[in-house]
Amino acid sequence: MKKVKSSDSQKNNIVAGKVLSSAVNTEMNVNEAHRTNTEFWDTIGSEFLGSTSLPSWGGFLPSEDKLNLLGDLNNKSVLEIGCGNGRSLEYVNKRGANDLWGLDISPNQIKRTKEHLKSTGVNANLVCSPMEDECGLPKEYFDLVYSVYGIGWTTDLDKTFNRIYSYLKKGGLFVFGWSHPIHKCVSVENDKFIFSNSYFDEEWYLADMSDKEIMLSNRMLSTYINALADNGFVIERLFEETDREKAKIANTDFSKKALMLPTAFVIKARKI
Ligand SMILES: C[S@@+](CC[C@H](N)C(=O)[O-])C[C@H]1O[C@@H](n2cnc3c(N)ncnc32)[C@H](O)[C@@H]1O
Repeated sequence: MKKVKSSDSQKNNIVAGKVLSSAVNTEMNVNEAHRTNTEFWDTIGSEFLGSTSLPSWGGFLPSEDKLNLLGDLNNKSVLEIGCGNGRSLEYVNKRGANDLWGLDISPNQIKRTKEHLKSTGVNANLVCSPMEDECGLPKEYFDLVYSVYGIGWTTDLDKTFNRIYSYLKKGGLFVFGWSHPIHKCVSVENDKFIFSNSYFDEEWYLADMSDKEIMLSNRMLSTYINALADNGFVIERLFEETDREKAKIANTDFSKKALMLPTAFVIKARKI
């Protein structure tokens, strides 16, 4: 893989309040991105970054219990993109969804989901595949497709939204949360907020995460919104608020940042 090493190709890998490492711009190659990210999630991913599952949408966003973006889930067919350790599938099942499907690129994450759901007596259909690829998921089938910090890992946003649209029934919902792109631009040093990365920089980068790497790009909010619109979705809500009480109690660099700017966003969109 070609790393691009000019001085303007370096950026900071900002995770929570901190700069974790520097990130080097790279030419994205789909196979390399999948290999790198699968290895990360197969091994240290969940332990290193921690896991976020419903009712949390991530960062300091208000929780799903407050936002109720998913609505009535009784007897609904639902699909999670990037199902991770299976906790969110357990949550939607508790809210009434009875036909559960999960997709993840990492065989070990699928194994974790399977083990967790087995231990809680919940049944789900699990598919190990990149979200960008044809993987045999049924079309026009789901009432809800959702994802918690999964969608941003795609190498092809347009293709992914097009597939998700095809999985949904008419009237079905797509709800997903991801890191807010402005959060990836600002770090905290000695209680000062430093604007470290350009909001407009959507270049792919490689970043060291302990002894592994990740390959990602930081997409602008407009990129997500325009890709949804291009693929036929109607956007019903965009949330980027901070739960200020939660952030004040946490009192960390990350929470101080969350009081000044959004650290995560969640979008609710519908197939009409
Ligand atoms: C931040 S985790 C989110 C999962 C879950 N919410 C959690 O916190 O445990 C991202 C998940 O997306 C999966 N993933 C990464 N790239 C993917 C891709 N291209 N297609 C499908 N899943 C992918 C990873 O294996 C990982 O389980």
